[in-house]
Order: sequence, then structure tokens, then C-alpha cells
Amino acid sequence: MITQLFINGEFKEAKEKQSVINPSTGKAMAQVALASLKEVDLAIASARAAFDGGEWPRLSLAERKDFLLKIAGGILDKAGELAALESANTGKPIKETTFMDIPAAAKTFEYIANNFESFLNAEIINLPEEAQVTLRREPVGVVVLIIPWNYPLLIASWKLAFALAAGNTVVLKPSSLTPLSALELAGIVQEAGLPAGAVNIINASGPKVGAALCSDKRVDMISFTGSNEIGRQILEYSSQNVKKSIMELGGKSVSLIFSDVDVDTAVNSSLCSIFLNQGQMCTAMSRIFVQDKIYDKFSALFMEKAKALRLGPSESPETQMGPLISDNQRKKVIACIEKARAEGAKVLCGGKIPQGAELKNGYFFEPTVIANVNTHMHIFKEEVFGPVAIIGKFSTAEEAVELANFSDFGLAACIWTKDTLLAERLAKQLNSGTVWINTYGMFYPQLPYGGFKQSGFGKELGQAGFLEYTRLKNIITDQSAGGKPLVNYWYGF
Ligand code: NAI
Ligand code: MG
Repeated sequence: MITQLFINGEFKEAKEKQSVINPSTGKAMAQVALASLKEVDLAIASARAAFDGGEWPRLSLAERKDFLLKIAGGILDKAGELAALESANTGKPIKETTFMDIPAAAKTFEYIANNFESFLNAEIINLPEEAQVTLRREPVGVVVLIIPWNYPLLIASWKLAFALAAGNTVVLKPSSLTPLSALELAGIVQEAGLPAGAVNIINASGPKVGAALCSDKRVDMISFTGSNEIGRQILEYSSQNVKKSIMELGGKSVSLIFSDVDVDTAVNSSLCSIFLNQGQMCTAMSRIFVQDKIYDKFSALFMEKAKALRLGPSESPETQMGPLISDNQRKKVIACIEKARAEGAKVLCGGKIPQGAELKNGYFFEPTVIANVNTHMHIFKEEVFGPVAIIGKFSTAEEAVELANFSDFGLAACIWTKDTLLAERLAKQLNSGTVWINTYGMFYPQLPYGGFKQSGFGKELGQAGFLEYTRLKNIITDQSAGGKPLVNYWYGF
């Protein structure tokens, strides 16, 4: 297991160490080096030098592609080990990391390796005036990547693969709750033989180093995924030296379930859309609205199945729900439920810390369903980031859209109906960056992903996500007859 900082191509110890906790047991699973401001400075200096004078931005596209494919291969070679590590560190069931997180991380590198060249093609524009313009895509420079704890390796890969493909050099900071898979990724990058300094990966406390990392003049861009609160802080830091940023923030996403659906399918899928990864997903469908005709049937079945979900340690293949990431996160979830109760909502099931010898030391929490919610309540508006769904009714499609759009967020929505014309009409009216029709959670590296409103700005993945990590330069060449452009005559000499 790698526990050091990766700076300028080498693994380095730090003075300070930090325990990394396995949330299934509440026990430390590793002691990891924690970067101080000194190591942050070294990492930025290393990325800056690698960008300004190093090889990475200057490699041929074929060479860059080759390195990215080597990283994809390195992830696949270690897939089993990485899945076990990621599950132990995050608490998410081993089935999820094995079939989703790890293969999707490798696919991200593979996809962008095979496609970025076609995204980069310089465009020539012929102007009516006698000039020719070339639009050139260049890397932005040094990019800071700040990663949350819910999908540590996958989100690190989304950002790292795309930033590197564009020719940037990076400083990547995982969440200090879940640094282990990012450090393994550093090992894979080193084995792939990338030029020193192109990739720096440092475990650090966000509150301690965030301001230094995000306001530094040597950093050109910040790509952040995490809470709105920290997103706003990072925007403040980055405004000091005017940096580009992309922000993938929270959500309060919504499922609209129409009465013509197959209820079993809609229930099973809705369970997945809120209880996967214990609800700690930015796109968790935490608001479920069901058309009145099938509301009773849907909610009874949804609760019955929610109660039957198997909670257990993340490493067990039988486990359907693991623990939350931390005791703090669990306290936050409990506080949201208490507030909902105090405001008059009704907890239909769950809402408690489960009993049982196997669960008592981990940060487990029961899958929770809440009804009697109105749009004024905190639970309707605020992100819980835990296994908590609110369920309510609508009668008309117009009412459904109104409920869905009543939110400061705009990340994702699901529509469940057999009426495809209705679904397509509603999809246009929903204020969210992603709309899934009769499915949930389909992500493709080809498809740009990112929310509207306070869910942030900028896209990840796809050509649009790649272009975020580039800057556009126009190069204008005079073509006028006799080589005398208009400026020559302006003062008439
Ligand atoms: P957070 O926003 O504090 O953490 C995300 C990342 O930001 C971590 O790498 C963290 O170290 C870093 N960070 C923290 N403070 C920073 C600062 N001042 N400057 C720069 N970087 C900083 O998220 P946290 O506290 O772990 O979770 C709190 C809530 O955030 C959750 O309950 C959930 O609502 C939301 N969240 C949303 C995520 C999403 O994917 N949209 C992911 C994780 C959390
Ligand atoms: Mg925080």
C-alpha cells in the first residue's frame, strides 16, 4: 500500500501523518503522509516546471496517447486490489467497486486516449477580410484537481485523464478521508513512466492547504468536485488571481414516476438511485414523486424492499449497503432527519442506527424513507448525502415538473413512463444537466456531465469536458494583396 506523497515523480514522506479509517470497522487501516504548506509549494513548483519547460506538454499526441493507455492498463492490472482497497476505505460494497468504480476509471483513460486527438483539431477560419485565422487549442497550464470521498478513484480518473490528455500538468488532492486509491494511482503513473512533475498527488487537509493551493499564481485552473460550501470558498480563493474553474457541486435530484410504469421496475431502480453507495452520490435521486394512482402501491413496495436491504461490511459480496463514510457524515444525516421530523415530516421507515454485532463499530445507517414533506421544509431543499429518500405525490405532469424544478440545484432527474412523447416533452422542461428516461445512473465517458444552477458549472467527460481543460488561442495572419493590411493606411503615411 502506498502511503507517501507523490511529488516530481518521487514518493516522499511528510513530517505529519494521518490515520485513514475503514468505515465498516471504525478502525485505522493505514497511516498516510499529510502534506503541509511546504509540500504543497513543492508540488505546485514541480507541476509548474514540468509545464513550462518539461516534456509532458511537448510530447507528440501519439506519445501522450500511449502514456494514457498505459495508465488504463495499469488500473486494469491491479483491478482486484484497487476494488478491495477502495471498498475498505470508502465503505462502499465490493460489488460496486468491482463492477463500477474500477473498470469505469480504466475506461475513462482509455476513452480519452483514443479520442482526444480528434477533439484538438485546429480549425481554420477564412474571413471575408483579407486575413486567415487559426483557432488553436492549448493546454491551460497547471491544473489543481480536488477530489471528494464518494468516488475517489473514479472522479480522480475523470479529472486526471482529461487534464493530462489536454497536455496540462497537475496537482491532485484526494479527500484526506480517502487518499489510498489516489496514491495507488500515483504508483501506476510512475510505473507508466510519465515525465517527472506532470502528475503530483498529495494527501492534504482541505481546510489547511486549500487557500494556498487554490490562490497560488502558479496555478492556472481548478477542477473541483464536492460540497457547495467548499466550492464557494474555492471560487473566492481562485478569484484572487483570476483562475478558470469547473465546479461539480451538490444536488437534490428527482425521480418522477408516472402511473403507466411497471411498478416493480420503477421500485427496483429507484432503490438503486438513492441507496447505492449509501446515498452518497451527487446524483442521488433523493426526491421521489409518484403519480397519485400508483402512489400507495409504489410506496408500500419501495418501503418493503428498502427495509430488506442487507447492510454489512464493505468487503462482503452479500452486502447491499455499507457504512457511511464517517461518524461525522452520519451525524449530519441524523440531524437532517431530526429537522425534518421537527418540521412535521413523517419517517416511514429507517431513520436509525442499525443494531447487530457485525455493524456496531462501523458508521452504518438504516435506509430511510420520509413522507409528508412540503416544499418549505429543509429536507425538500437541502442535500442530505446519505440513504434518505423523500417520497411524495403528484397528479399532473405539470405539477411533477413544478415539484422537480423547485430546487436551488439542477444536477439530474429521472422520468419513468412508457409514454415516450411525454418523457421527451418533460425532459426539455426539467432544469437539470442530466435527464434519465426509464433508467438511472448511466454514465458514459463520451457524454458531458455537469449540473445547472447551484450544482455548479463546467462539464466533465465527452468532448465538452475535454475542452474545459484547454484554452483557445486565435492566430491571425494577414493575407491582403501586396502585403499591405489596413493598419498600414490608418495614419496615412
Ligand atoms: P468537502 O467539499 O469538504 O470535500 C471535498 C474536497 O474538498 C476534499 O478533497 C476536501 O479535502 C476538499 N476541501 C475541503 N475544504 C477545502 C478548502 N477549504 N479548500 C480546498 N479544498 C477543500 O466535502 P465533505 O466535507 O467531505 O462533505 C460534506 C458534504 O459535501 C456532503 O455531506 C455532501 O453534501 C457534499 N459532497 C458532495 C459531493 C459531490 O460529489 N457533489 C462529494 C462529497 C461531498
Ligand atoms: Mg468539508
